[in-house]
Amino acid sequence: MFLLVLTCCQLLSAQTRREVNLKTWEFSRDNKTWKTVTIPHDWAISGPFDKKWDLQKVAIEQNGETEATEKSGRSGSLPWIGEGWYRTTVDIPQGYASAELLFDGAMSDAHVWVNGQEAGHWAYGYNAFRVDVTRFLGNPPSSLTQELDIAVHLNNREESSRWYPGAGLYRPVTLVLRQKAHLDDWSIFVRTVGVDDKHQATLECEARAVNAAKGMVGSLQLLDAEGKEVSGSGNVQINEDGSFYATLKVRNPKMWSPESPYLYKVKVLLNSAADKQPLDVKEIKTGIRTIRVTREKGFQLNGVTRKLKGVCLHHDLGPLGAAVNKSALIRQIKMMKAMGCDAIRTSHNMPSQMQMDLCDSLGMMVMAESFDMWVFPKCKNGYARNFREWSDRDITNLVVANRNHPSIVMWSIGNEIPEQWSEEGRQISIRLQGLCHALDPTRPVTQGMDHAEKALSSGFAQAMDVAGFNYRPFKYANNIKQLPQGFLLGSETASTVSSRGVYKFPVRPDDNSRYASWSKNYDPNAMSNADGQCSSYDVEYCAWSNLPDDDWRWQDDYDWVIGEFVWTGYDYLGEPTPYDEYWPSRSSYFGICDLAGLPKDRYYLYKSKWNKDEHTVHVLPHWTWPDRKGLVTPVYCYTDGVEAELFINGKSQGRVRKQADIKGKESANRLDRYRIRWNDVKYEPGVIKVVAYDEQGNMIGTDERRTAGTPVQLVAQAETSEHHADGEDLIFVRVSVKDKKGTFVPTCQSPLTFSVSGEARFEACCNGDATSLEPFKEPKMKLFNGELVVILRPTAKAGRATLTVRDQQGKLKPAVLTIETK
Ligand code: GAL
Repeated sequence: MFLLVLTCCQLLSAQTRREVNLKTWEFSRDNKTWKTVTIPHDWAISGPFDKKWDLQKVAIEQNGETEATEKSGRSGSLPWIGEGWYRTTVDIPQGYASAELLFDGAMSDAHVWVNGQEAGHWAYGYNAFRVDVTRFLGNPPSSLTQELDIAVHLNNREESSRWYPGAGLYRPVTLVLRQKAHLDDWSIFVRTVGVDDKHQATLECEARAVNAAKGMVGSLQLLDAEGKEVSGSGNVQINEDGSFYATLKVRNPKMWSPESPYLYKVKVLLNSAADKQPLDVKEIKTGIRTIRVTREKGFQLNGVTRKLKGVCLHHDLGPLGAAVNKSALIRQIKMMKAMGCDAIRTSHNMPSQMQMDLCDSLGMMVMAESFDMWVFPKCKNGYARNFREWSDRDITNLVVANRNHPSIVMWSIGNEIPEQWSEEGRQISIRLQGLCHALDPTRPVTQGMDHAEKALSSGFAQAMDVAGFNYRPFKYANNIKQLPQGFLLGSETASTVSSRGVYKFPVRPDDNSRYASWSKNYDPNAMSNADGQCSSYDVEYCAWSNLPDDDWRWQDDYDWVIGEFVWTGYDYLGEPTPYDEYWPSRSSYFGICDLAGLPKDRYYLYKSKWNKDEHTVHVLPHWTWPDRKGLVTPVYCYTDGVEAELFINGKSQGRVRKQADIKGKESANRLDRYRIRWNDVKYEPGVIKVVAYDEQGNMIGTDERRTAGTPVQLVAQAETSEHHADGEDLIFVRVSVKDKKGTFVPTCQSPLTFSVSGEARFEACCNGDATSLEPFKEPKMKLFNGELVVILRPTAKAGRATLTVRDQQGKLKPAVLTIETK
């Protein structure tokens, strides 16, 4: 059995507490054969993909289905169902009298055992929870080093999720060692009460000491990013229940916002009675900022009205599965920010601490969600099993573990809760929202509703601080009339579907396009159509959903729409709509970026609307269509400009202007308000080029696509330039293919292999093809429309690493990428 010795621990504050990240565990699926793993760990992500893992015969009622049919890829076709065991042994040095295990999430139904005795249990796989293990230190605690033998049993039930939940200890586990008298970490709460006209911010801070003896005092300090104290309480009295408070004033505070995510630190001390020396110290990062939502001004951050430009995200990180990873999260957040996105909805569950820390430091607002169902089940063994017994505890942990994150601007108590028509549903909304308010009076509470009429007639929608509606923007005008709040949120929008680099003809908006042998649109004469993909002309969506253009019309024309959260920023494992019944589809098509994190065309459509700092000019489709000579091949341009001219091989196809007065989905030309289109273009090989202009007629940029020849050369490029030799950093390498003139070949699907030497290891690969059954964790994969991503993990030793990418058929010149790690 592995023994973790605390000398290698992360020492936070010398004499007072130790926080140890428990990384190395033994893992078993059967409690017989064990292997050593590093957590965060997702036992299912290496596969193999197989429809048998979660084959279901169900009707997805939320999608309006009435008949049960076979669903194969619903939760990702990976082996996440069943049991798993983790064990580790920790050597506790003398001098600590209290110990707690902090799980940031364990999938799922965790039973925690210490030294052979059950110590704690948490049912919901997404929540953070704490297990007090002080009693295992002996009473009184021994002066000798002691061993804690920790075991965690997990069990994932079949049909418990509508997407891939992951499996195992997929988020960090921390051991917190303290003195008998110590701070309760989740009692710490810092909030900005307001900022006056003299630029003075008032902050209320509170904390609670456990086992505080008479005469002990607390202290609360605010430090700036350099660690300098900018405000402090001095020693304050501790109340009988252990709590202590202070109001801190800060002159000319640096306010937190997505554009300027300045972070302060709050330092909380518990000081001894005799000499007032610290017994426990906890530092947390926080930001100073205010949020309000009102009828008159909509959503305001720091007193400035803005509409939320948000994306919904499931928690999986594509080929890395649910195992949380800092580099992967940074990559996600930065990519979304570059698009102009300023908010994430953690659909439909609690976020990881790592993700929230990064949203704080990189500047991303968050709607932190909790549940996908309450009492009424959406799938046989989902959270409805636990709701009555656990919902209060789950909301409590969500709020207390996360309320100091400035990034979080809203709590969400649910997504498309089936009981939104009922009085019971309304009562539960009031109860859960009330609980959020009691634990955090500073943030509004919302939930996403999909049955507007029912939710409005039962009073469910009116009960919320923020009424969030999922889809059906054409109902907004009717909804707002019945909302005393005077505003509403597009809590979930779009659900447009597309596959990177795939274009389908003829191009027409459709709410049920499917290109696979079992579906009605399948054309047996056009075999190339039968691929289980969706078109990147961004014109396909679902029966309940719509196109980005349909949402924007409402946001632009009405002040009372306070923003949106697009479904979704990235593709995720599971829910392969519109191919729920088609094998081998096993991941989503909804993403603005694909499962590998590569942008689809849609990325530039959102960027053209959201990013106000940079011009966008993006032309589609690609221009390599040997079979389309003379055939109508529409060309679209996504730009923040208002007009553009298209040239094909130098010949102008005319200037086209956006049409500002179009009223959305109902209009025949619904796409012409936000896109510039040439619908009748006939394909001829060569170059297409768009030149875009702003309102004043100034040229703002150009973009072009060239017809590619035979692929000859593989290319590998790291997305970032600095790589850390810490064993945790990840390097994302984009692999693509070029012809002899250096033109990208968007039609190449060659199978590749990857070999890594030196100070990095192969971690995973992904090509973004939702129908691929090639495992992410093996160093070989086909290109998908000319691209894929390889992920490397530097070792803990600084040095040089080389990735070689080869074509399995030996036809292409290999790509060799050398990376320095520091
Ligand atoms: C919504 C639901 C999401 C996802 C989406 C797909 O109704 O809230 O979880 O299923 O539909 O369009």
